[in-house]
Amino acid sequence: MKDTIRHLIQQALTRLTAEGVLPEGLSPVIQVENTKDKSNGDFASNIAMMLAKPAAMKPRELAEKLVAALPDDAQVSKVEIAGPGFLNFFQNSDALAQRLEAALADARLGVRKAGPAQRVVVDLSAPNLAKEMHVGHLRSTIIGDGVARVLEFLGDTVIRQNHVGDWGTQFGMLLAYMQEQPVDSEAGLADLEGFYRAAKKRFDESSEFADRARQLVVQLQAGDADCLRLWHRFNDISLSHCQALYDRLGVKLSMADVKGESAYNDDLANVIADLKAKGLLSESEGAQCVFMDEFKNAEGNPLPLIVQKAGGGYLYATTDLAATRYRASVLKADRVLYFVDQRQALHFQMVFAAARLAGFVPAEMQLEHMGFGTMNGADGRPFKTRDGGTVKLVDLINEAEERAYSLVKAKNPELDDTELRQIARAVGVGAVKYADLSKHRTSDYSFNFELMLSFEGNTAPYLLYAYTRVASVFRKLGKSVEEIGGQISLGAEQEQALAGKLAQFADVLNGIADKGTPHLLCAYLYDLAGLFSSFYENCPILSAEDEALRNSRLRLAALTGRTLKQGLELLGLDTLERM
Ligand code: ARG
Repeated sequence: MKDTIRHLIQQALTRLTAEGVLPEGLSPVIQVENTKDKSNGDFASNIAMMLAKPAAMKPRELAEKLVAALPDDAQVSKVEIAGPGFLNFFQNSDALAQRLEAALADARLGVRKAGPAQRVVVDLSAPNLAKEMHVGHLRSTIIGDGVARVLEFLGDTVIRQNHVGDWGTQFGMLLAYMQEQPVDSEAGLADLEGFYRAAKKRFDESSEFADRARQLVVQLQAGDADCLRLWHRFNDISLSHCQALYDRLGVKLSMADVKGESAYNDDLANVIADLKAKGLLSESEGAQCVFMDEFKNAEGNPLPLIVQKAGGGYLYATTDLAATRYRASVLKADRVLYFVDQRQALHFQMVFAAARLAGFVPAEMQLEHMGFGTMNGADGRPFKTRDGGTVKLVDLINEAEERAYSLVKAKNPELDDTELRQIARAVGVGAVKYADLSKHRTSDYSFNFELMLSFEGNTAPYLLYAYTRVASVFRKLGKSVEEIGGQISLGAEQEQALAGKLAQFADVLNGIADKGTPHLLCAYLYDLAGLFSSFYENCPILSAEDEALRNSRLRLAALTGRTLKQGLELLGLDTLERM
């Protein structure tokens, strides 16, 4: 609908330009927003205020001319001018009802991508394999997964890339320790975190061990067969830990999506040679660096992007440069989204700029860092265990499920244990994911079990419950929406409001595709559930006065249920039919 209105305004602008009312060459971004208060219509645009100055007119005067020049459209019942010169559009309820009918008849709920379909690489999760996955990688994993799902639903081709940290100095230490523990290393690796700590302890205590660890890194990077064998064994185990977590979290990632830092090893020397050939390298204190004019420190001195250490070793940036090239030339990406901690923002700005200068990626390929804030504890400080250690992701999920189990059991003591466990899984995992997804990704957020498991507010339990309410209507009816006839007609205020929200689904998803912000979908589903609730309380469904009204309301409820379910699925949450 917003697109329709933008298009109508565009036609009015073209007409006014042709008539000489507006100067040539204006190409404003036409903003159309949903109104908060329905007495102001359903959509509003500030276009008259934006163009008043270049048009040398008062905003209201221009607004009047625009209204007169707007073509008629069946979807718009009237347009009013309000306040300083807003254009308020009122949606025609018959046209709205027809759109909802079309959505109900469509497997994709009438959702289409606003622009052309693209090939999008999504760089997500990317834990370091030396250690067990901890809460720091939760955000990258589930925000990335959510956005990837939305892009796929809109029709993009999504290529997930799990750029795991599987290379570098820590592995020397781990290999040295594996060599010392040949007998029980397998058992030791069941607890990766413990294994890492033990290796680190040896490294810090013994200089002989540390020397051997450094030697092993060099051997590993040079392709020594024994080192590679140990390294593979370690990584296989570590990756299987990650995969088990992805499966439990319901994240769409598999081993096939793993393309770790090590995968680019053979290309790193070429990256350096190509940067050199382009004249982009300078030596600074023995290291090879790229200096770019736009990157300076607080004192105004140039900042280096270091791509090769004095000793010849390569760095994180070198691998990322190689990855940009692979994503452009082999994966043929139109767009690459990096779901990585906000603290790496400068790293990505510099890598993207260097990749462009070096011609590793075509000019039209979009490279976007989708940064996110830190996950803090309920006290607002970085999330830690009681004794100050990092929180393992697996412990966090276990606790969420246990808490959900007690809650659900207290509410439904009559349910059998299998069903309780199943509900607890959906609610517990869902709550952890939803709490994260519902905050704007760039802000830090406080992890709080009580809040995320509450049945009130913008939480997973609230939304899962809202969905079961719709499901229960159809359970009582004993029929599915396909088995009832009739059509949607919008009378009551609550029906209109619910319908207006339902019609926004495509806009919301397109916004997320654009900005990589799943919290918009959470906010939308929360509003939708709230509007369904007032509809449900004010507009009797099964006991409606006549069959036509009853069918219309059932159809509206069915579309709400499908939108909630689809929305939750795009966020990576499993829905329940009852809870
Ligand atoms: N392994 C890195 C970390 O844990 C994240 C990698 C993100 N992706 C990338 N292409 N640099 O911080």
